Amino acid sequence: MSLPLAPEHPWLAPLAGFTDLPFRLVCRKYGCKVAFTEMISAKGLIYNNTNTSLLLQTCSQDVPLVVQLFGSHPKDIVNAVLCLQKKGFFYFDLNCGCSVKKVVKTGAGAALLKNPSQIVQIFKALHEYVPPQNTGIKTRLGYDLNTSTYLELAENLAALNIGWFTLHPRYAREKFSGQARWEHLANLKKLFPELKVIGSGDLFTAQDGLNCLHQTKIDGIMFARGALSNPYIFREFKLLLEGKDISQLNKKKLIAEILEDFVFYYQQYAPQSIKKMRTILPKMIKNIPEAKKMRVKLSFLNSWEEVREMINLFKGESNG
Ligand SMILES: Cc1cc2nc3c(=O)[nH]c(=O)nc-3n(C[C@H](O)[C@H](O)[C@H](O)COP(=O)(O)O)c2cc1C
Repeated sequence: MSLPLAPEHPWLAPLAGFTDLPFRLVCRKYGCKVAFTEMISAKGLIYNNTNTSLLLQTCSQDVPLVVQLFGSHPKDIVNAVLCLQKKGFFYFDLNCGCSVKKVVKTGAGAALLKNPSQIVQIFKALHEYVPPQNTGIKTRLGYDLNTSTYLELAENLAALNIGWFTLHPRYAREKFSGQARWEHLANLKKLFPELKVIGSGDLFTAQDGLNCLHQTKIDGIMFARGALSNPYIFREFKLLLEGKDISQLNKKKLIAEILEDFVFYYQQYAPQSIKKMRTILPKMIKNIPEAKKMRVKLSFLNSWEEVREMINLFKGESNG
């Protein structure tokens, strides 16, 4: 069970506030091969916060699952991983890309890029307890604009034989502005062919995923915002890989199916989450007539019954 992660892809990115168990199960249904938890504070885990245990909710269909940790000290990360191993988790990712103030000011997330040797220390400490292939990193190019730290990191972490290296090719200071520079993904793979490189950044559609893969020759891609607005993206990606045409898919029918999946999994694992549906579901409604009206309606949902009514509406119209 604790074998190195299979190189299959696409992967689902960690998305704080979104990629909880039901969300991951929807994505897995459509062909997501590896999923991540939302980022979890190593310290929070050690102190057993209630919120942390919610973030760790999983089930037998939710495999392989990578737990993403943020923290700044080797000791905290090691203690968190020891705790997670006792709970039955196998794969661990270190967040070195989050540029949110709350995280950066503690020296974690992208702040670690200011001190890459600290990152290497964290992995060395971790490898006393975890097979290196079961550990990986998700990072950006560097902290400040044009300060590219990722190559130095890749060199050191490849020597430690880590399992994956996910790069979101923007600098932390850029947050999400401008365009992801995929050429750095190509560069990384070319210089370190032994490293399993996973690409993230501006993969909004299945076609973006395919383009990125072809342009960079990396090992795999990871959908983030693309999956937030269309979990079906995983299936579309597979169809494209097989050379199939996805332009004729019935959008309304698909949306009805996706909404049904969300209702099914959230009612099973998080029945109190109707409020969460107000943020998740409207993102799925696009490229159809009256999308705006539907999004507004979904953002005021008060009950599962109302979601069902919407689904029936989609179903009725897509059959007609
Ligand atoms: C709402 C949101 C939450 C995110 N949460 C995390 C996180 O918890 N950990 C992480 O490493 N990256 C996180 N990211 C970054 C994504 O995983 C991804 O690398 C980034 O969005 C770039 O990919 P995209 O342009 O295809 O969306 C988050 C991004 C968004 C938009």
